[in-house]
Amino acid sequence: MGVAIKTEDLTKTYRTRSGKVNVVDHLNLEVEEGEIFGFLGPNGAGKTTTIKMLLGISYPSEGTAWVLGKEIGDTDVHRRLSYLPEKPYYYEHMTGLEILRFYARLFNIKEPERTKKAEALLEKVNLAGDADKIIAQYSRGMQQRIGLAQSLLNDPVLLFLDEPTAGLDPIAHIEIRDLILKMRDEGKTVFISSHELSDVERICDRVTILNYGKVVSEGRLDTLLKGGRIEITAVNVPKGIEDNLRSDGVIASFHDGRLIIDAPDTIATDGFVDAVRSAGGTIVSIIPRRKRLEDLFIESVGGRRVLTEQTEQSEESV
Ligand SMILES: Nc1ncnc2c1ncn2[C@@H]1O[C@H](COP(=O)(O)OP(=O)(O)O)[C@@H](O)[C@H]1O
Ligand SMILES: [Mg+2]
Repeated sequence: MGVAIKTEDLTKTYRTRSGKVNVVDHLNLEVEEGEIFGFLGPNGAGKTTTIKMLLGISYPSEGTAWVLGKEIGDTDVHRRLSYLPEKPYYYEHMTGLEILRFYARLFNIKEPERTKKAEALLEKVNLAGDADKIIAQYSRGMQQRIGLAQSLLNDPVLLFLDEPTAGLDPIAHIEIRDLILKMRDEGKTVFISSHELSDVERICDRVTILNYGKVVSEGRLDTLLKGGRIEITAVNVPKGIEDNLRSDGVIASFHDGRLIIDAPDTIATDGFVDAVRSAGGTIVSIIPRRKRLEDLFIESVGGRRVLTEQTEQSEESV
C-alpha cells in the first residue's frame, strides 16, 4: 500500500486579538492508500483548515504536504480527488438528476455518458426513485447522499468528506456509513473529518485526534481501543469467595447479593466461571465491555475541554 497523504509540520497561523494562533500546529500525519482515515477533534480543532490546505484552497503558513504523490499546490491532482464540504451548497430548485448532470458537465463529461453516469450514481446512493424531486424536497440525509453522488462524478481515488454525518438522523447515519464502506471496497481512500464518534468507530481503519491544532492521539482503531473489560455476574455465591478472585486489575464484590467480577478482557474467564460454579453459584451473565472511541476521545482532549477562544475571523493569514 502506498501513501495517499503525508503532511510535514503542516501549520496554519491566524492573527487574533491576543496574538498569533497556530490553528493547525506542526501537523504530521500519513494516510495510506485504500483506508478510511478518521480525522477527529472537537469543534475548532483545525480539521477543516487542514482539509483546505490539503486541497490547495488555503496556503500553509509553515510546513508542507503531499497528496497522491504531489506536493500541495499541484492542480493536476485535483482531477483524481474530490471534496464534500461541511455545508454543501445546493441549487435547491434543481432536481437530483439535474444537479448531477450539471456538475458532470462542469467535469466535461459529454452526453449521453453524462446522463448515464448521473443515473448510475443516483442508483448507487439509493436516490433513483427521487431523481426528479427538487433538492428543496430532499431530507438532510438525502441531500448528503446527493453530495456523495456528486463527489463520485470524477471517479476520484481519494475523497475528503468534512463532517459527512453531522446533524443527520440515525437511519441517514447508517446509509452514509454504508456508502463510505462501499467506496473503500472499490479501493478508494477516504479521509473523513468528524466528531461523530460512533460513526468513526464503526468504519475507520485509523484515526488521528486533533486538539488545538495538535495531534493528541493517533493509530489503528483496533490498537487504540484495546484494553476493554469483562463483567461477570453470578448469584447464589457464598460470601468470602470474592477475596480469592481478586488479583491485579480484577475487582470482585457483592452488590445486592450478586457477585460482580470486573476483569481486563485479556484474562480468560474460565477460572472465574469454575470458581463460581464449584462454590455452588450460578453465572448470570458475561458481558465484554469494549473500550469506546468516546473514552479515548475524552482522555485525549482532556474532558469536555473544547476550543473556546475563537479566533477573529479574517481571510488574512500570517
Ligand atoms: N479565516 C479565518 N480567520 C481566522 N480564524 C479562522 C479562520 N478560519 C478558521 N479559523 C479558526 O481556526 C480554528 C480552527 O477552525 P476549523 O479548522 O474550522 O476547525 P474544525 O473544522 O476542527 O471545527 C477555529 O478557532 C476557527 O475559528
Ligand atoms: Mg470543520
